[in-house]
Amino acid sequence: MRSYISGVGSFLPPKVVTNFDLEEMMNTSDEWIQQRTGIVQRRWVDENTSTSDLAYEASIKAIENAKIDKSEIDMIIFATLSPDHDFPGTGCFLQHKLGLGEVTVLDIRQQCSGFLYGLSIADKFIRSGEHKHILLVGAEVHSKGLDKTPRGRDVGVLFGDGAGAVIVSSTAITDTETQAHILNTALYADGAHAKELWLPAPSNAMGAERMSQKMLDEGLHYPQMNGRNVFIHATKKMSECLAGVVTKSGYQLKDIDIFLFHQANMRINMKVAELLGIDESKVFNTIQDFGNTTAATIPIGMDCAIKKGVLKKGMLVGSAAFGAGFTWAASVWRY
Ligand SMILES: CC(C)(COP(=O)(O)OP(=O)(O)OC[C@H]1O[C@@H](n2cnc3c(N)ncnc32)[C@H](O)[C@@H]1OP(=O)(O)O)[C@@H](O)C(=O)NCCC(=O)NCCS
Repeated sequence: MRSYISGVGSFLPPKVVTNFDLEEMMNTSDEWIQQRTGIVQRRWVDENTSTSDLAYEASIKAIENAKIDKSEIDMIIFATLSPDHDFPGTGCFLQHKLGLGEVTVLDIRQQCSGFLYGLSIADKFIRSGEHKHILLVGAEVHSKGLDKTPRGRDVGVLFGDGAGAVIVSSTAITDTETQAHILNTALYADGAHAKELWLPAPSNAMGAERMSQKMLDEGLHYPQMNGRNVFIHATKKMSECLAGVVTKSGYQLKDIDIFLFHQANMRINMKVAELLGIDESKVFNTIQDFGNTTAATIPIGMDCAIKKGVLKKGMLVGSAAFGAGFTWAASVWRY
């Protein structure tokens, strides 16, 4: 018994925010953002929309695409760093909105690597025979948590809101060369770099109160990032990890039909392609349109690639991600 991706869906909030819109708020420029990141625009939610709302829309589409009834879903794995509330996990809110009944719900906190961590967990639950259909969703509302003043411009220009979902289902494999299945996943982390990209507050590790006026004044409730260090580690770890998982799967990089990388920075993805000798035309990017939607970038990219006819049934997909923690991961699957 193996697992495969049987359905894909995504949802982006309708409001488009261009780099020119950000120029009005953050003392930045379209030229700087495009040159350094490749981002042209991103989506932001309205005030009444939360992470579980975006996840709901993406999940409904993935369930339809998988041609299953929602009552067949055994488990939700929800990857997000921007939950509706600190607790309970956003997966419980999504389960209720979908009306799924008392199925297993697991929220995971691996930031930009969250989707691939979730894929690996889903793969294990399916291979063990415990579950048949798992809803894996990555969803983020960043826009409500960004410093939209010049102080926050180094981080604020990078992130967008969105959700992507897949259904991971069980299948009996007789032909690995043609049948859809997940071949391998590899997951890593190094907490020595936890404070290179993090949200310091609210915090139980910074004094008597989780939140104070001082923390607010210092902007510690906004993400803090050492961009250069993230960039250096991301290119190294993504390329090493992907090469390893492709080899473990019995293939070479040239055998991979399409690369779905996490979308943090176009330059990171082009550098990974260069380090691995990958033809850039095989790397499918969406960052120009949606920015970095963290745990949602890979399923959103997969959905876009399918809709554009770039990703077709039977293709071999190579995927890699890197994010806060630091965490990183890679996977190879046949779609
Ligand atoms: C953030 C990132 C785009 C910055 O690019 P960079 O080339 O490293 O730029 P630097 O941080 O060295 O900043 C260069 C200059 O631009 C300025 N700058 C920073 N953000 C800016 C912005 N939004 N608009 C205009 N100027 C900006 C800096 O203040 C600095 O000015 P200075 O030279 O006068 O001091 C890049 O480091 C990056 O993408 N890192 C990875 C981030 C990431 O992937 N995060 C998510 C991980 S999943």
